[in-house]
Amino acid sequence: MIRTVFPAESLGGEVRVPADKSLTHRSYLFAALADGPSRVYGPLTGEDCVSTRRCLSALGTEFVDHADGSVGVIPSADWVSPEAPLDCGNSGTTMRLLSGILAGKGIAATLDGDASLSRRPMSRIATPLREMGAEVAGDRPPIRVNARGLRGIEYASPIASAQVKSCVLLAGLYASGTTSVTEPSRSRDHTERMLAAMGAEIEVHGLTATVRSGATLRGFEFHVPGDISSAAFWLVAGALAAGSGIRLPGVNVNPTRTGILDVLAQVGAEVTVSPEPDRLGEPVATLQVRRHARRAFEIRGALVPRLIDEIPVLAVLATQCEGETLIRDASELRVKESDRIAVVADGLARMGATIDARPDGFRIIGPTPLSGTTVDAAGDHRIGMAFSIAGLFARGETTIMNADSIATSYPSFFDDLTRLGGASLDGRSA
Ligand code: S3P
Repeated sequence: MIRTVFPAESLGGEVRVPADKSLTHRSYLFAALADGPSRVYGPLTGEDCVSTRRCLSALGTEFVDHADGSVGVIPSADWVSPEAPLDCGNSGTTMRLLSGILAGKGIAATLDGDASLSRRPMSRIATPLREMGAEVAGDRPPIRVNARGLRGIEYASPIASAQVKSCVLLAGLYASGTTSVTEPSRSRDHTERMLAAMGAEIEVHGLTATVRSGATLRGFEFHVPGDISSAAFWLVAGALAAGSGIRLPGVNVNPTRTGILDVLAQVGAEVTVSPEPDRLGEPVATLQVRRHARRAFEIRGALVPRLIDEIPVLAVLATQCEGETLIRDASELRVKESDRIAVVADGLARMGATIDARPDGFRIIGPTPLSGTTVDAAGDHRIGMAFSIAGLFARGETTIMNADSIATSYPSFFDDLTRLGGASLDGRSA
Protein backbone atom coordinates (compact mmCIF):
# COMPACT_ATOMS: atom_id res chain seq x y z
CA MET A 1 0.00 0.00 0.00
CA ILE A 2 1.08 3.55 -0.75
CA ARG A 3 -0.12 6.46 1.35
CA THR A 4 0.26 10.17 0.71
CA VAL A 5 0.21 12.55 3.68
CA PHE A 6 -0.35 16.30 3.31
CA PRO A 7 1.00 19.07 5.55
CA ALA A 8 -1.34 20.20 8.35
CA GLU A 9 -1.78 23.84 9.32
CA SER A 10 -2.87 22.93 12.83
CA LEU A 11 -4.02 19.84 14.69
CA GLY A 12 -6.26 19.34 17.69
CA GLY A 13 -9.03 17.31 19.27
CA GLU A 14 -9.57 14.00 20.97
CA VAL A 15 -8.65 10.48 19.91
CA ARG A 16 -9.31 7.20 21.69
CA VAL A 17 -6.28 5.17 20.60
CA PRO A 18 -6.65 1.42 20.00
CA ALA A 19 -6.18 -1.11 22.75
CA ASP A 20 -2.70 -1.95 23.94
CA LYS A 21 -1.05 -4.62 21.79
CA SER A 22 1.08 -6.17 24.57
CA LEU A 23 -1.94 -6.38 26.87
CA THR A 24 -4.24 -7.85 24.21
CA HIS A 25 -1.71 -10.59 23.38
CA ARG A 26 -1.29 -11.37 27.06
CA SER A 27 -5.00 -11.39 27.83
CA TYR A 28 -5.60 -14.02 25.10
CA LEU A 29 -2.52 -16.10 25.96
CA PHE A 30 -3.03 -16.06 29.72
CA ALA A 31 -6.83 -16.54 29.52
CA ALA A 32 -6.05 -19.75 27.64
CA LEU A 33 -4.18 -20.96 30.76
CA ALA A 34 -6.96 -20.18 33.25
CA ASP A 35 -9.22 -22.65 35.02
CA GLY A 36 -12.38 -21.01 33.62
CA PRO A 37 -13.56 -18.58 30.94
CA SER A 38 -12.41 -14.96 30.62
CA ARG A 39 -13.83 -11.97 28.81
CA VAL A 40 -11.68 -9.36 27.09
CA TYR A 41 -13.41 -6.02 26.41
CA GLY A 42 -12.18 -3.75 23.63
CA PRO A 43 -9.17 -5.85 22.54
CA LEU A 44 -6.87 -4.68 19.74
CA THR A 45 -8.18 -5.98 16.43
CA GLY A 46 -4.80 -5.45 14.72
CA GLU A 47 -3.24 -8.29 12.78
CA ASP A 48 -0.64 -9.19 15.42
CA CYS A 49 -3.34 -10.04 17.96
CA VAL A 50 -5.29 -11.94 15.32
CA SER A 51 -2.15 -14.07 14.94
CA THR A 52 -2.19 -14.87 18.65
CA ARG A 53 -5.87 -15.88 18.43
CA ARG A 54 -5.25 -18.03 15.38
CA CYS A 55 -2.40 -19.93 17.08
CA LEU A 56 -4.37 -20.48 20.29
CA SER A 57 -7.39 -21.68 18.30
CA ALA A 58 -5.18 -24.25 16.57
CA LEU A 59 -4.20 -25.45 20.06
CA GLY A 60 -7.82 -25.90 21.17
CA THR A 61 -8.71 -22.57 22.86
CA GLU A 62 -12.17 -21.30 21.96
CA PHE A 63 -12.86 -17.64 21.16
CA VAL A 64 -16.36 -16.16 21.12
CA ASP A 65 -16.95 -12.78 19.48
CA HIS A 66 -19.75 -10.93 21.26
CA ALA A 67 -21.92 -8.24 19.68
CA ASP A 68 -20.39 -5.53 21.91
CA GLY A 69 -16.92 -6.21 20.50
CA SER A 70 -15.74 -8.13 23.55
CA VAL A 71 -14.16 -11.54 23.17
CA GLY A 72 -14.87 -14.56 25.35
CA VAL A 73 -11.94 -16.94 25.83
CA ILE A 74 -12.71 -20.52 26.82
CA PRO A 75 -9.59 -22.50 27.70
CA SER A 76 -9.14 -26.01 26.40
CA ALA A 77 -8.95 -28.83 28.92
CA ASP A 78 -6.72 -30.76 26.51
CA TRP A 79 -4.13 -28.86 24.59
CA VAL A 80 -3.46 -30.60 21.30
CA SER A 81 -0.15 -30.77 19.48
CA PRO A 82 -0.92 -29.08 16.16
CA GLU A 83 0.04 -30.92 12.99
CA ALA A 84 0.54 -27.79 10.91
CA PRO A 85 3.03 -25.08 11.92
CA LEU A 86 1.54 -22.28 14.06
CA ASP A 87 1.53 -19.10 11.96
CA CYS A 88 2.64 -16.16 14.13
CA GLY A 89 2.43 -13.72 11.20
CA ASN A 90 4.48 -10.59 11.88
CA SER A 91 4.31 -10.97 15.66
CA GLY A 92 7.44 -11.58 17.72
CA THR A 93 5.38 -11.40 20.92
CA THR A 94 3.18 -14.28 19.75
CA MET A 95 6.14 -16.48 18.87
CA ARG A 96 8.22 -15.77 21.95
CA LEU A 97 5.50 -15.92 24.61
CA LEU A 98 3.76 -18.91 23.06
CA SER A 99 7.05 -20.84 22.90
CA GLY A 100 7.37 -20.52 26.68
CA ILE A 101 3.81 -21.75 27.19
CA LEU A 102 4.25 -24.70 24.81
CA ALA A 103 7.53 -25.73 26.42
CA GLY A 104 5.94 -25.52 29.87
CA LYS A 105 2.87 -27.51 28.87
CA GLY A 106 4.89 -30.12 26.98
CA ILE A 107 3.14 -29.48 23.65
CA ALA A 108 5.36 -30.13 20.65
CA ALA A 109 4.84 -27.56 17.89
CA THR A 110 6.51 -25.71 15.05
CA LEU A 111 6.13 -21.92 15.03
CA ASP A 112 6.54 -19.95 11.83
CA GLY A 113 6.00 -16.38 10.66
CA ASP A 114 6.18 -13.93 7.77
CA ALA A 115 9.34 -12.77 6.01
CA SER A 116 10.07 -10.07 8.63
CA LEU A 117 9.57 -12.40 11.61
CA SER A 118 11.69 -15.07 9.90
CA ARG A 119 14.68 -12.72 10.11
CA ARG A 120 14.33 -12.09 13.85
CA PRO A 121 16.47 -13.84 16.47
CA MET A 122 14.89 -16.63 18.53
CA SER A 123 18.12 -17.77 20.18
CA ARG A 124 17.28 -15.30 22.95
CA ILE A 125 14.40 -17.58 24.02
CA ALA A 126 15.92 -20.88 22.85
CA THR A 127 18.91 -20.46 25.21
CA PRO A 128 16.94 -20.23 28.50
CA LEU A 129 14.33 -22.79 27.38
CA ARG A 130 17.13 -25.27 26.60
CA GLU A 131 18.61 -24.55 30.04
CA MET A 132 15.22 -25.53 31.50
CA GLY A 133 15.41 -28.84 29.62
CA ALA A 134 13.42 -28.08 26.46
CA GLU A 135 14.47 -29.05 22.96
CA VAL A 136 14.30 -26.02 20.70
CA ALA A 137 15.37 -26.40 17.09
CA GLY A 138 16.13 -23.30 15.02
CA ASP A 139 17.54 -19.98 16.14
CA ARG A 140 15.34 -18.13 13.65
CA PRO A 141 11.79 -19.02 12.54
CA PRO A 142 10.59 -21.57 11.87
CA ILE A 143 11.43 -22.99 15.27
CA ARG A 144 10.34 -26.28 16.80
CA VAL A 145 9.67 -26.61 20.51
CA ASN A 146 9.49 -30.03 22.15
CA ALA A 147 9.71 -30.39 25.91
CA ARG A 148 8.70 -32.51 28.84
CA GLY A 149 9.27 -31.92 32.54
CA LEU A 150 11.08 -28.58 32.65
CA ARG A 151 13.20 -27.57 35.64
CA GLY A 152 13.14 -24.09 37.18
CA ILE A 153 16.21 -21.93 36.54
CA GLU A 154 17.68 -18.61 37.62
CA TYR A 155 18.17 -16.83 34.33
CA ALA A 156 20.30 -13.69 33.96
CA SER A 157 19.05 -12.26 30.68
CA PRO A 158 21.69 -10.37 28.69
CA ILE A 159 19.00 -8.04 27.27
CA ALA A 160 16.13 -6.06 28.78
CA SER A 161 13.37 -7.80 26.82
CA ALA A 162 9.84 -8.35 28.09
CA GLN A 163 9.38 -11.02 25.46
CA VAL A 164 12.32 -13.04 26.79
CA LYS A 165 11.34 -12.45 30.42
CA SER A 166 7.72 -13.44 29.74
CA CYS A 167 8.72 -16.56 27.80
CA VAL A 168 10.83 -17.85 30.69
CA LEU A 169 8.27 -16.94 33.38
CA LEU A 170 5.48 -18.66 31.42
CA ALA A 171 7.58 -21.82 31.06
CA GLY A 172 8.32 -21.45 34.78
CA LEU A 173 4.59 -21.69 35.60
CA TYR A 174 4.92 -25.40 34.72
CA ALA A 175 8.57 -26.13 35.65
CA SER A 176 9.72 -27.78 38.87
CA GLY A 177 10.30 -25.37 41.79
CA THR A 178 10.87 -21.69 41.09
CA THR A 179 12.05 -19.85 38.01
CA SER A 180 13.53 -16.38 38.08
CA VAL A 181 14.62 -13.89 35.44
CA THR A 182 16.98 -11.00 36.17
CA GLU A 183 17.29 -8.35 33.49
CA PRO A 184 19.89 -5.61 33.03
CA SER A 185 17.19 -2.92 33.28
CA ARG A 186 13.45 -3.17 33.64
CA SER A 187 11.36 -4.05 30.59
CA ARG A 188 7.56 -3.81 30.53
CA ASP A 189 6.06 -5.78 33.42
CA HIS A 190 2.56 -6.58 32.10
CA THR A 191 3.16 -10.32 32.43
CA GLU A 192 4.06 -10.04 36.11
CA ARG A 193 1.04 -7.83 36.86
CA MET A 194 -1.49 -9.90 34.93
CA LEU A 195 -0.29 -13.28 36.23
CA ALA A 196 -0.35 -11.91 39.80
CA ALA A 197 -3.94 -10.69 39.29
CA MET A 198 -4.86 -14.20 38.06
CA GLY A 199 -3.48 -15.81 41.23
CA ALA A 200 0.00 -16.91 40.16
CA GLU A 201 2.71 -17.02 42.82
CA ILE A 202 4.92 -14.33 41.37
CA GLU A 203 7.21 -11.84 43.08
CA VAL A 204 9.36 -8.99 41.87
CA HIS A 205 12.43 -7.76 43.75
CA GLY A 206 14.51 -5.13 42.00
CA LEU A 207 15.30 -6.41 38.53
CA THR A 208 14.38 -10.03 39.34
CA ALA A 209 10.96 -11.60 38.77
CA THR A 210 10.35 -15.04 40.30
CA VAL A 211 7.49 -17.44 39.68
CA ARG A 212 6.64 -20.63 41.57
CA SER A 213 4.88 -23.35 39.59
CA GLY A 214 1.65 -25.04 40.51
CA ALA A 215 -0.78 -22.17 41.20
CA THR A 216 -4.23 -22.29 39.64
CA LEU A 217 -4.86 -19.31 37.38
CA ARG A 218 -8.29 -17.69 37.57
CA GLY A 219 -10.21 -16.39 34.56
CA PHE A 220 -10.74 -12.62 34.44
CA GLU A 221 -12.65 -9.74 32.89
CA PHE A 222 -10.42 -7.08 31.41
CA HIS A 223 -11.17 -3.80 29.67
CA VAL A 224 -7.97 -3.33 27.67
CA PRO A 225 -6.65 0.23 28.00
CA GLY A 226 -5.26 2.25 25.08
CA ASP A 227 -1.73 1.67 23.83
CA ILE A 228 0.79 4.36 24.74
CA SER A 229 2.88 3.17 21.77
CA SER A 230 -0.03 4.20 19.51
CA ALA A 231 -0.70 7.37 21.54
CA ALA A 232 2.97 8.23 20.93
CA PHE A 233 2.22 9.39 17.36
CA TRP A 234 -0.32 11.95 18.58
CA LEU A 235 1.82 12.94 21.57
CA VAL A 236 4.57 13.90 19.13
CA ALA A 237 2.10 15.53 16.73
CA GLY A 238 0.67 17.56 19.63
CA ALA A 239 4.13 18.61 20.79
CA LEU A 240 4.87 19.95 17.28
CA ALA A 241 1.56 21.32 16.02
CA ALA A 242 -0.03 24.70 16.30
CA GLY A 243 -3.57 24.28 17.63
CA SER A 244 -5.65 23.61 20.68
CA GLY A 245 -3.78 20.51 21.81
CA ILE A 246 -4.54 16.80 21.61
CA ARG A 247 -6.43 14.79 24.24
CA LEU A 248 -6.02 11.03 24.56
CA PRO A 249 -8.33 9.32 27.09
CA GLY A 250 -7.93 5.79 28.44
CA VAL A 251 -4.21 5.25 27.82
CA ASN A 252 -2.20 2.66 29.77
CA VAL A 253 0.46 4.51 31.78
CA ASN A 254 2.30 1.57 33.32
CA PRO A 255 5.60 3.18 34.43
CA THR A 256 7.59 0.59 32.45
CA ARG A 257 6.00 2.09 29.30
CA THR A 258 5.98 5.85 29.94
CA GLY A 259 9.50 6.77 28.84
CA ILE A 260 7.99 9.00 26.14
CA LEU A 261 6.48 11.21 28.86
CA ASP A 262 9.98 11.65 30.33
CA VAL A 263 11.24 12.65 26.88
CA LEU A 264 8.41 15.15 26.39
CA ALA A 265 9.36 16.68 29.76
CA GLN A 266 12.97 17.04 28.51
CA VAL A 267 11.66 18.64 25.31
CA GLY A 268 9.55 21.12 27.28
CA ALA A 269 6.19 20.14 25.76
CA GLU A 270 3.11 20.83 27.87
CA VAL A 271 1.73 17.43 28.97
CA THR A 272 -0.92 16.70 31.58
CA VAL A 273 -1.66 13.24 32.94
CA SER A 274 -5.11 12.85 34.57
CA PRO A 275 -5.45 9.45 36.28
CA GLU A 276 -8.42 7.15 35.61
CA PRO A 277 -9.29 3.96 37.55
CA ASP A 278 -6.80 1.06 37.25
CA ARG A 279 -7.71 -1.98 35.17
CA LEU A 280 -6.46 -5.39 36.37
CA GLY A 281 -3.45 -3.82 38.07
CA GLU A 282 -2.63 -1.55 35.11
CA PRO A 283 -2.68 2.24 35.62
CA VAL A 284 -4.69 4.28 33.09
CA ALA A 285 -4.88 8.03 32.41
CA THR A 286 -6.06 10.73 30.03
CA LEU A 287 -3.07 12.40 28.39
CA GLN A 288 -3.17 15.92 27.02
CA VAL A 289 -0.38 17.51 25.04
CA ARG A 290 0.25 20.97 23.62
CA ARG A 291 3.12 22.61 21.86
CA HIS A 292 5.46 24.61 24.08
CA ALA A 293 9.27 24.48 24.08
CA ARG A 294 11.13 22.18 21.66
CA ARG A 295 14.51 21.33 23.14
CA ALA A 296 16.77 18.50 21.97
CA PHE A 297 16.84 15.44 24.24
CA GLU A 298 18.87 12.39 25.20
CA ILE A 299 17.74 8.76 25.38
CA ARG A 300 20.03 6.06 26.82
CA GLY A 301 20.38 3.34 29.46
CA ALA A 302 17.36 2.35 31.51
CA LEU A 303 15.11 4.76 29.60
CA VAL A 304 15.47 2.73 26.38
CA PRO A 305 13.25 -0.29 27.24
CA ARG A 306 10.62 2.14 28.58
CA LEU A 307 10.13 3.64 25.10
CA ILE A 308 11.71 1.13 22.71
CA ASP A 309 8.77 1.11 20.26
CA GLU A 310 8.43 4.91 20.31
CA ILE A 311 11.95 5.68 19.04
CA PRO A 312 11.01 5.99 15.34
CA VAL A 313 8.50 8.77 16.07
CA LEU A 314 10.80 10.35 18.69
CA ALA A 315 13.44 10.60 15.94
CA VAL A 316 10.87 12.62 13.95
CA LEU A 317 10.36 14.86 16.98
CA ALA A 318 14.13 15.36 17.32
CA THR A 319 14.37 16.77 13.78
CA GLN A 320 12.19 19.69 14.95
CA CYS A 321 13.94 20.26 18.30
CA GLU A 322 16.60 22.87 18.94
CA GLY A 323 20.07 21.32 19.31
CA GLU A 324 21.67 17.87 19.23
CA THR A 325 19.56 14.83 20.17
CA LEU A 326 21.40 11.62 21.04
CA ILE A 327 19.70 8.23 21.13
CA ARG A 328 22.03 5.50 22.42
CA ASP A 329 21.98 1.93 23.82
CA ALA A 330 19.16 1.07 21.41
CA SER A 331 20.79 -1.57 19.18
CA GLU A 332 17.68 -3.73 19.79
CA LEU A 333 16.04 -1.54 17.14
CA ARG A 334 18.08 -3.38 14.53
CA VAL A 335 16.19 -6.63 15.19
CA LYS A 336 12.61 -5.32 15.37
CA GLU A 337 10.07 -5.62 12.52
CA SER A 338 12.77 -3.97 10.36
CA ASP A 339 16.23 -2.57 11.04
CA ARG A 340 14.60 0.52 12.51
CA ILE A 341 17.86 2.47 12.78
CA ALA A 342 18.66 2.12 9.07
CA VAL A 343 15.09 2.60 7.80
CA VAL A 344 14.31 5.66 9.96
CA ALA A 345 17.65 7.35 9.19
CA ASP A 346 17.20 6.76 5.46
CA GLY A 347 13.64 8.13 5.32
CA LEU A 348 14.25 11.19 7.49
CA ALA A 349 17.50 12.04 5.67
CA ARG A 350 15.55 11.94 2.37
CA MET A 351 13.11 14.43 3.89
CA GLY A 352 15.97 16.79 4.73
CA ALA A 353 16.76 15.91 8.36
CA THR A 354 20.30 16.04 9.72
CA ILE A 355 20.48 12.50 11.09
CA ASP A 356 23.35 10.03 11.53
CA ALA A 357 22.64 6.37 12.11
CA ARG A 358 24.90 4.84 14.75
CA PRO A 359 25.30 1.16 15.65
CA ASP A 360 23.06 1.70 18.70
CA GLY A 361 20.93 4.71 17.81
CA PHE A 362 21.00 8.15 16.22
CA ARG A 363 22.49 11.62 16.35
CA ILE A 364 20.02 14.21 15.11
CA ILE A 365 20.60 17.94 14.82
CA GLY A 366 17.62 20.25 14.63
CA PRO A 367 15.57 22.02 13.86
CA THR A 368 15.61 21.33 10.12
CA PRO A 369 12.65 21.95 7.82
CA LEU A 370 11.38 18.70 6.32
CA SER A 371 10.39 18.37 2.66
CA GLY A 372 7.82 15.91 1.41
CA THR A 373 9.22 13.17 -0.81
CA THR A 374 8.86 9.41 -1.29
CA VAL A 375 9.99 7.30 1.67
CA ASP A 376 9.92 3.56 2.29
CA ALA A 377 8.39 2.21 5.53
CA ALA A 378 9.90 -1.20 4.69
CA GLY A 379 6.72 -2.96 5.80
CA ASP A 380 7.25 -1.79 9.41
CA HIS A 381 4.04 -0.48 11.00
CA ARG A 382 5.66 1.92 13.45
CA ILE A 383 7.88 3.44 10.78
CA GLY A 384 4.91 3.90 8.41
CA MET A 385 3.17 5.89 11.15
CA ALA A 386 6.30 7.82 12.17
CA PHE A 387 6.83 8.94 8.55
CA SER A 388 3.16 9.97 8.39
CA ILE A 389 3.71 12.26 11.39
CA ALA A 390 6.81 13.67 9.67
CA GLY A 391 4.64 14.28 6.60
CA LEU A 392 2.22 16.44 8.62
CA PHE A 393 5.09 18.85 9.35
CA ALA A 394 6.85 18.72 5.96
CA ARG A 395 6.59 21.12 3.04
CA GLY A 396 4.68 19.42 0.19
CA GLU A 397 3.41 15.86 -0.01
CA THR A 398 5.01 12.83 1.61
CA THR A 399 4.41 9.50 -0.10
CA ILE A 400 4.98 6.45 2.04
CA MET A 401 5.67 3.13 0.33
CA ASN A 402 4.96 -0.22 2.00
CA ALA A 403 2.66 1.31 4.60
CA ASP A 404 0.02 -1.46 4.71
CA SER A 405 1.56 -3.03 7.80
CA ILE A 406 0.14 -0.11 9.85
CA ALA A 407 -2.88 -2.41 10.40
CA THR A 408 -0.59 -4.61 12.52
CA SER A 409 -1.08 -2.36 15.53
CA TYR A 410 -3.28 0.61 14.48
CA PRO A 411 -5.93 -0.24 11.87
CA SER A 412 -7.71 3.15 12.26
CA PHE A 413 -4.55 5.30 12.16
CA PHE A 414 -5.45 7.39 9.09
CA ASP A 415 -9.05 7.92 10.32
CA ASP A 416 -7.64 9.33 13.54
CA LEU A 417 -5.17 11.49 11.60
CA THR A 418 -8.18 12.97 9.75
CA ARG A 419 -10.13 13.40 12.99
CA LEU A 420 -7.31 15.56 14.38
CA GLY A 421 -7.26 17.78 11.28
CA GLY A 422 -4.67 16.08 9.07
CA ALA A 423 -5.24 14.79 5.56
CA SER A 424 -3.99 11.77 3.65
CA LEU A 425 -4.82 9.83 0.55
CA ASP A 426 -4.82 6.12 -0.17
CA GLY A 427 -2.29 5.92 -3.02
CA ARG A 428 -0.07 8.43 -4.72
CA SER A 429 -1.65 11.85 -5.37
CA ALA A 430 -2.04 12.76 -9.06
C1 S3P B 1 6.76 -6.46 23.68
C2 S3P B 1 8.02 -6.19 24.11
C3 S3P B 1 8.97 -5.37 23.35
C4 S3P B 1 8.31 -4.56 22.25
C5 S3P B 1 7.29 -5.34 21.50
C6 S3P B 1 6.23 -5.90 22.43
C7 S3P B 1 5.91 -7.31 24.53
O1 S3P B 1 9.93 -6.24 22.81
O2 S3P B 1 9.26 -4.04 21.35
O3 S3P B 1 6.65 -4.50 20.53
O4 S3P B 1 4.67 -7.31 24.34
O5 S3P B 1 6.44 -8.00 25.41
P1 S3P B 1 11.22 -6.65 23.69
O6 S3P B 1 10.79 -6.59 25.11
O7 S3P B 1 11.61 -8.01 23.29
O8 S3P B 1 12.23 -5.59 23.36
